Amino acid sequence: MQNWLDTVEIRLMRETDLPSIEWGEEYIRYRKVYRDVYRNFLAGRSILWIAETEKDGIVGQVFLTQKNPHELFDPEHPYMLLSSFRVKPAFRNLGLGTLLLKACEIAAGDRGIQRIFLNCARSNQRSRAFYERNGYSVFRDDPGRWSYIDHLGQLREEIDPAWTMVKVVNQQESEPLEE
Ligand SMILES: CC(C)(COP(=O)(O)OP(=O)(O)OC[C@H]1O[C@@H](n2cnc3c(N)ncnc32)[C@H](O)[C@@H]1OP(=O)(O)O)[C@@H](O)C(=O)NCCC(=O)NCCS
Repeated sequence: MQNWLDTVEIRLMRETDLPSIEWGEEYIRYRKVYRDVYRNFLAGRSILWIAETEKDGIVGQVFLTQKNPHELFDPEHPYMLLSSFRVKPAFRNLGLGTLLLKACEIAAGDRGIQRIFLNCARSNQRSRAFYERNGYSVFRDDPGRWSYIDHLGQLREEIDPAWTMVKVVNQQESEPLEE
């Protein structure tokens, strides 16, 4: 029998995917955020991976955005920030998350990027273990405070204390990173 993971296509996002990544009502509040992310993708600043099967439709996603050197992350080099990483519950623990992470690491490496950073909510211990198994380590604490305009035009604030985690993806060119 064919392995389910072999039926998954990992491809770049299309504008027509925007409604689907709201997962019904669950992420509708991020509609404007996703549109901004999509504009960044069109401008070449983001890479948006979508995982899809013919039978199940969109089953996962992960976004990677290139950032300029920043004192709180990598003060010397551009880096990438991984976000909106999720696999639909029915398809978890089948290896898709690991595959999506690999797609991000290859894409970052192809761009000559040295480090991928991400924020992992402190309430999400299982994800921290998942990232650690995949070579990410805790870099610092992050208060996890951010705001955005929701789909109704309302300003929303979210506070989700997190660990900022990092992985060096381009070993040869990288230098030690001072905290
Ligand atoms: C984290 C996530 C993307 C991993 O995707 P996945 O396809 O299940 O990943 P894989 O099958 O490659 O690896 C599964 C491993 O992740 C772990 N895991 C981490 N978070 C998990 C979660 N919320 N639910 C289920 N498994 C989770 C599993 O325990 C499993 O570990 P194991 O290999 O020791 O059994 C997925 O669990 C998910 O979408 N979680 C909810 C959203 C989320 O937490 N995103 C990360 C935000 S920082």
